[in-house]
Amino acid sequence: MPVPRPNVFPEAGSAESAADASALPPGKATRKAALLLAGTGGSRAAVGEVEALGRRLKETGLVARVAFAFAAGGAPSLHTALRGLADKGVDEVLLLPLLVPMEPGLRVWVGRSVQRWRAAAPELRWPLVRLAPPPSDTLGIKEVLREMLGQAEEAAPMGESALFASDASLVPAQHWRVLVCQGLACNSAGAPAVWNQLRLEEDRLALRTRGRGVTACTTGCLGPCSLAPVLQVYPDGQFYGGVDEAGLRRIVHEHLLGGQVVEELAYAPNGRKQRLRARTWRAAAPNVAAAKAEA
Ligand code: FES
Repeated sequence: MPVPRPNVFPEAGSAESAADASALPPGKATRKAALLLAGTGGSRAAVGEVEALGRRLKETGLVARVAFAFAAGGAPSLHTALRGLADKGVDEVLLLPLLVPMEPGLRVWVGRSVQRWRAAAPELRWPLVRLAPPPSDTLGIKEVLREMLGQAEEAAPMGESALFASDASLVPAQHWRVLVCQGLACNSAGAPAVWNQLRLEEDRLALRTRGRGVTACTTGCLGPCSLAPVLQVYPDGQFYGGVDEAGLRRIVHEHLLGGQVVEELAYAPNGRKQRLRARTWRAAAPNVAAAKAEA
């Protein structure tokens, strides 16, 4: 089980939080938060690096809260982090992408994902979300690059140590392979959030070794772009379309763990062009198969 990590600096209600809020320049909303959006948080070291950046940002005193999230795998996801800030009564979230290069579709998928999350939990008071430009568009980036150059000059040369990867590998034994399309149409429709959700479920449910075993990877366009976001499950090559985080959870529990195709999201090659069907299931409906699989 991954260790839950705090993603808000400082935690709600702490003395540090109160002091920071009172020290804000006049006119700065005390319920404004910055949210760092990083790439992959697949290791403790990666999470620690983003935490350190969050602390640096917190020290500027420009916002009352700083949180972080990962866009391409790792916890917390953007959804979890945003919900956490909404639960803490934050009015506005300034989203800072730490992604180089920043996917051209990021603005669209974040916008659509936020719309979807709001629609799925209308009872929650969601904050306004504003997206900053990528690091390469900021004036101060020259200073950062200059400092990095200086530090690189001082660093020990790479490739001088005797550290080599082993020359033998295990061939994976997993039965299921999930391809998650990250082509333009799928990215714009929210595929990064679906991929992130799959990585979280993989970790949470130990999918690699559980049942018949699952491996997953991202791919370029799989073909049926009008069904975005699309994923495909092998060895059968089953296509799924219009997959969101709730749909992904069903595919994990019913198909990968239960061996049953999720018909509501499934599309078969029939020689004709196909459109996305309207949803016929409710995301919040109790999922008996899921409950059984987790029991
Ligand atoms: S971009 Fe995903 S199927 Fe084409």
